[in-house]
Amino acid sequence: MAAKDLAKESAKNFEKNLEQKKYSIAVLPGDGTGPEVVREGIKVLNAIGKKYNIKFEFNEYDFGGERFLKTGKTITDEDIEELKKYKAIYLGAIGHPDVTPGILEVGILLKIRFSLDQYINLRPVKLYPNVETPLKDKKPEDIDFIVVRENTGCLYSGHGGVTRKNTKYEVATQVMVYDRQMVDRCLDFAFNLAMQRKANGKPGKLTLVHKTNVLTFVGDLWYRAFMETKDKYPQVQTDYNHVDACCMWMVKNPEWYDVIVTSNMFGDIITDLGAMIQGGMGIAAGGNINPIGTSMFEPIGGSAPKYTGLNVINPLAAIEAARMMLEYIGETGPALKLQQGVAFACTKLKSLSAGKMGYSTSEVGDLISEYILGN
Ligand code: IPM
Ligand code: MN
Repeated sequence: MAAKDLAKESAKNFEKNLEQKKYSIAVLPGDGTGPEVVREGIKVLNAIGKKYNIKFEFNEYDFGGERFLKTGKTITDEDIEELKKYKAIYLGAIGHPDVTPGILEVGILLKIRFSLDQYINLRPVKLYPNVETPLKDKKPEDIDFIVVRENTGCLYSGHGGVTRKNTKYEVATQVMVYDRQMVDRCLDFAFNLAMQRKANGKPGKLTLVHKTNVLTFVGDLWYRAFMETKDKYPQVQTDYNHVDACCMWMVKNPEWYDVIVTSNMFGDIITDLGAMIQGGMGIAAGGNINPIGTSMFEPIGGSAPKYTGLNVINPLAAIEAARMMLEYIGETGPALKLQQGVAFACTKLKSLSAGKMGYSTSEVGDLISEYILGN
């Protein structure tokens, strides 16, 4: 290359570097198969980075079962302060067979959600083409909704206790707690999401799911807040379902849903049902969102210890979590490309279940990365 061209080329590269966007992400691979699926998510994000000239800096933290067994620490206040430096956290899975159930879930996962005030748990329920759903005759156009699960209150608040433990008269309570602003901020998020979906050609309908016929205090608080908030968003069509009926309709008429907003405990339960109708835990992802702080993205299945290290677990859920993270940081074009990559992988995989995909964990990551770079 002539000197003049070289100079031009280097000036161009210099400009390109200046343009390059940088994101620093905290990575918590966690336990079991967490590290394996996160590795594929990072691989795919790096492919996105290469294609769109984005630099991702991944900083790993070892919070999880192994560290707990060695040090007795779940997540400390200093760890939380450290995580606050990031806009996004990418999590694999928390849960270790040698640790009493509850310790890591409460001490790590819930502690992060609560301390970082990630008050929304966003869980898309979307059936990709070629993915098998247990619902007879339901197609991708029938299963495409998103659950806005309130993520800080309800039965998760820690209010309650036990007396007379280990006696015949043992009393245990666990209290469903909400205050009005917690409900209001969650509803505002959900209404805005419904508006956004409407702008993107979706129905823009919001269904409140609760149990007002029995929960006459907390359900009533949610219902009244919903009715008042709805006046601020006249473009959004609204509906209300009791949670038990919602389980019924999710199976029978999932096409009725566009955006569901619900409290923490109900949201936990219905999103496992949602995961199954979209093809299983192999593809279900979620985002723990603090719209003005640090958010965390995760596959919603567990650590699947029996598959650890075998390179057979499905990384699509973790890759979907990476897609949500891209969307959240505002990289909507790249997020869409990643989604096309996931859809492409769905046409190739024989099944979404671990060990039955016809591809190894790392091959699924390769497949999507190659798709992204080639399309
Ligand atoms: C989830 C999980 C957690 C929850 C557990 C592990 C604490 O089931 O993310 O849905 O109940 O929120
Ligand atoms: Mn759950």
